[in-house]
Amino acid sequence: MKSLVILISGRGSNMQAIVETARREAWQVRLAGVVAHRGDSAGLAWAAAQGLPTALVDHRDHPERAAFDAHLAEAIRHLAGPDGPDLLALAGFMRVLGSDFVQAHAGRMVNIHPSLLPAFPGLHTHRRALQAGCRFAGATVHGVTAELDHGPIAAQACVPVLPDDDESALAARVLEREHRMYPRVIDWLLRERLVLRDGRYRQLDGESTAF
Ligand code: GRF
Repeated sequence: MKSLVILISGRGSNMQAIVETARREAWQVRLAGVVAHRGDSAGLAWAAAQGLPTALVDHRDHPERAAFDAHLAEAIRHLAGPDGPDLLALAGFMRVLGSDFVQAHAGRMVNIHPSLLPAFPGLHTHRRALQAGCRFAGATVHGVTAELDHGPIAAQACVPVLPDDDESALAARVLEREHRMYPRVIDWLLRERLVLRDGRYRQLDGESTAF
């Protein structure tokens, strides 16, 4: 059975959507655990209350990135086993991971980013989309590479930007799509229906990866 570890920072609503979808659809997957880097993470408390294995690797205990990354990798191995998980999903994980960590999980680590990449990598994506006058916004699931918010695109969700939108209205519209897209993409990846080949993700059943 394939294993999945999810990394979060705070709220963890994408993680929750993944766990709830996995249970509702009876995925043949081992939910090996949820790791957060903040002790006040509501998502981590939710996961623990669900009976999932959890771990906290507090970034304040490891100010240097290399030490943080090493402890994070250790916590992940502890949950998933010595070879690590088959899939590592970053779900609102707000720490930049170093190239050694990325290399160690190459090809089996994905992230969800709240913009239509390659537009607006980095922070404050909805604010920047509004400021630029974008008529569409969205979210992207992509493979993680050493360059922040780059890496091959696995799926995208697109929503309209409405005339009266503020940042929070747009974020809520995008988030709803994230909750539909990310569990589906993770399911496909774990069942190898979505595969990384020659640096691009391909959906083998011909299903659309536009949400
Ligand atoms: C989401 O919008 C995700 O795309 C971004 O951070 C937000 C996390 O929300 N990376 P949550 O923690 O999953 O509720």
